[in-house]
Amino acid sequence: MEKRSQWGTRLGFLLAAMGSAIGLGNIWRFPATAYANGGGAFFIPYLFALITAGIPMLIMEYTIGHKYRSSAPRAFKRISNGMEWIGWWQVAISFVISTYYPIIISWASMYTYFSFTQAWGADTEAFFFDDFLTITDPGVFGSMVPNVLYPLLIIWVFIFIILFRGVKKGIELANKIFIPLLIICFVMIVIRALTLPGALTGLNAFFQPDWSALANGSVWVAAYGQIFFSLSIAFAIMITFSSYLPKKSDITNNAFITGFANSSFELLAGIGVFAALGFMANQTSQPVSEVVDGGIGLAFVVFPEIISQMPASAFFGVLFFGSLVLAGLSSMVSISETYIAGLQEKFNISRRTAVIIGTCAALLVSLLYANQSGVFLLDTVDYFINNYGVALVGLIELVAIAWFAREINKLKEHANSVSDILIGSWWNVALCVITPVVLGYMMIQNLRTDLTSQYEDYPIEFLFNYGWMVALGAMVLGVFMTMKKWPEDK
Ligand code: PHE
Repeated sequence: MEKRSQWGTRLGFLLAAMGSAIGLGNIWRFPATAYANGGGAFFIPYLFALITAGIPMLIMEYTIGHKYRSSAPRAFKRISNGMEWIGWWQVAISFVISTYYPIIISWASMYTYFSFTQAWGADTEAFFFDDFLTITDPGVFGSMVPNVLYPLLIIWVFIFIILFRGVKKGIELANKIFIPLLIICFVMIVIRALTLPGALTGLNAFFQPDWSALANGSVWVAAYGQIFFSLSIAFAIMITFSSYLPKKSDITNNAFITGFANSSFELLAGIGVFAALGFMANQTSQPVSEVVDGGIGLAFVVFPEIISQMPASAFFGVLFFGSLVLAGLSSMVSISETYIAGLQEKFNISRRTAVIIGTCAALLVSLLYANQSGVFLLDTVDYFINNYGVALVGLIELVAIAWFAREINKLKEHANSVSDILIGSWWNVALCVITPVVLGYMMIQNLRTDLTSQYEDYPIEFLFNYGWMVALGAMVLGVFMTMKKWPEDK
């Protein structure tokens, strides 16, 4: 057996955890979510969600990893025999995400290159869908798109090298370079965006509080959803990462640092994105509400247009898309590490063998999204796996640990035995009551919406095959993986 890998320094662990947390969700999800859910008023449910669910869950996952010092499935099994499947289910969700995440990184790297000449021209939407992705209809699989395929393969080589080099020399080192670089690039973007004409109009639109939103349950659900996704909670990631902490390591303080760093970056991204949107609204004499977008549309349709209208377009474009690549890569590495750790321990193979098997499997599946209707597939899988994967698995994780295994006090004792900040009974209340209730409510709302309407009006069969079946498949795979025994329990 190989010795368990360890982080070289506390900062190394923190940067890796931040690298996982800070991702596309901070840049393209948070600004649009906050804007649509009360603007300035959104900060109240958002901070509430951070304190009552985000940080408590992060402390819990760090403690589980640190105490049981193993991959997520095995850590859950060590808590209670019947819980292993929850760990594999989370690992399976991460596997699915790791098959489409590199596609977005591949688009972003091509757009970094396009930035030099603003190759997207005047109609950025037509360029993205028709010229760049050459899309067909949802479910009509066309041929491979070389524009996506070749950069994808290069991205995979990068990911492979980082993972193959191991926890300290690979993941830790990569994040020590990526995260400071990402912060520098992003601060430059924000300063530039803030000095453009119209920036203030954008910020006004972003921070304008709609207090009535606070009375709306869906706004609170959106805040919790953002916090869970953004902090990479219930993806097996934080458990895996904290399992590489040395015995003497602070837990609680590290969770606070990760949580606040992630939210600070989120706020920074909100300011940068809305200042830029204000500039665009100003240039095209439209209200900000007309130009707002989130997700793929924000990054690959709206931003190229903004970039073209700016002075020193190429420079700004490279900074923006380069940031997406950096933020994406550091999250991607963390997602893949979950199944590498799981495979390594379950099949008693070396880390390197696990890296080869894991990345090759994910690479093969990722090719599916590199064909002409890949963008629809990606959008659907992403939506379902996050809505049902994370909210549901988070709920089940919590109910199993807090209610069935009654593990919360034991975990609290462990965390308090190593941490500077001691946690008190607020933590029990957050995990045993507040978070499960919110997650349960979130699940019911999601189910209601998706059973009564068709996501994005995609064909029902398409949604069934690639949405519901993939989300369900991850759970089934989780149960299936528990059938094989762990090496030492023979
Ligand atoms: N937390 C990352 C973000 O905010 C995204 C992520 C999702 C990372 C899933 C890993 C797994 O973008």
